[in-house]
Amino acid sequence: AQDLTILGLESSCDDTAAAVTRGRAILSNVVLRQDDLHAAFGGVVPEIAARAHAEKIDLAVEQALAEAGLRLSDCDAIAVTAGPGLIGGVLAAVMCAKGLAAATGLPLVGVNHLAGHALTPRLTDGLAFPYLMLLVSGGHCQFLRVDGPDAFARLGGTIDDAPGEAFDKVARLLGLPQPGGPAVEAEAARATGTVALPRPLLDRPGCDLSFSGLKTAVLRARDQAVAAHDGLPRALRADICHGFQSAVRDVLAEKSRRAIEASPGITAFAVAGGVAANGPLRAALSEVAEAAGLPFTAPPLGLCTDNAAMIAWAGSELFAAGQRDDLTLAARPRWPL
Ligand code: KG4
Ligand code: ZN
Repeated sequence: AQDLTILGLESSCDDTAAAVTRGRAILSNVVLRQDDLHAAFGGVVPEIAARAHAEKIDLAVEQALAEAGLRLSDCDAIAVTAGPGLIGGVLAAVMCAKGLAAATGLPLVGVNHLAGHALTPRLTDGLAFPYLMLLVSGGHCQFLRVDGPDAFARLGGTIDDAPGEAFDKVARLLGLPQPGGPAVEAEAARATGTVALPRPLLDRPGCDLSFSGLKTAVLRARDQAVAAHDGLPRALRADICHGFQSAVRDVLAEKSRRAIEASPGITAFAVAGGVAANGPLRAALSEVAEAAGLPFTAPPLGLCTDNAAMIAWAGSELFAAGQRDDLTLAARPRWPL
């Protein structure tokens, strides 16, 4: 993977992205966001996302090559997210990548989106295998031991919602804007007290997590506050945000401690995904790593959330390991690691 020049394409959720990496250098990283298209619906609408990806993916590729100062023929291969994700969206980048591969004769490498997230700490920090990764985003929540570019062991994960989804729902319940994570974090920072909320599944052994009960507990706390005060006082709203964020932080920290304990021989503990942007959570996870005597890695935010540089990098690792796909490469809505 050291000096390979790879074009990466990504369109599995609501970001249309293209990037070029050369070894561990990111030559360009273009992300065209769709937030404004979905804002009115309070969530990603698959049909709207698919159409927007199909319209924008060529532009993203053009921009990524232009910013890298390269032509397509300067690349060694084209890497593309082939799943998991919203199938209409995944297809947009897969079709585009196939067209480019057919036109140039460049090899194609199909990448699992989750592998893209999981391999990012090797791009940003050069981590050595094996390491432990906590992936926490709007759609994912799992502990992975990363043994190689195509070798992952899942140690546990959510049995219902992803934490980002919970942050977004809690924001909606409390009348805060989307995406909910940053809004809830800002509100929690203003809190002068806290509201005690449950720590789901802490009493159960293992590394599985649950967030849907926590969301229901927030709903109950809100309704009690509204009934008692004839509306939701600003100060109480901040306290509820604080209580919720603390509960998420505590369960993720404790389960991380257990996942590390269950992974002898790992070189580091890494976290990725949009929720990894949360300040108090990052601080707690870094303490857990330190207590276990492990380095802690959290990629910069733009590489934590969905992007194509991670796909290009994962593609370069897989290409170096010998993976080649052809025009029969399939787009997969479900694709566990
Ligand atoms: O990784 P990401 O950009 O997209 C995917 O879900 O794949 O993650 C987005 C999620 C959203 O649910 C958002 O609310 C959450 O990450 N998020 C945060 C913060 N910033 C973004 N959650 C908690 N605290 C934050 N500061
Ligand atoms: Zn993602």
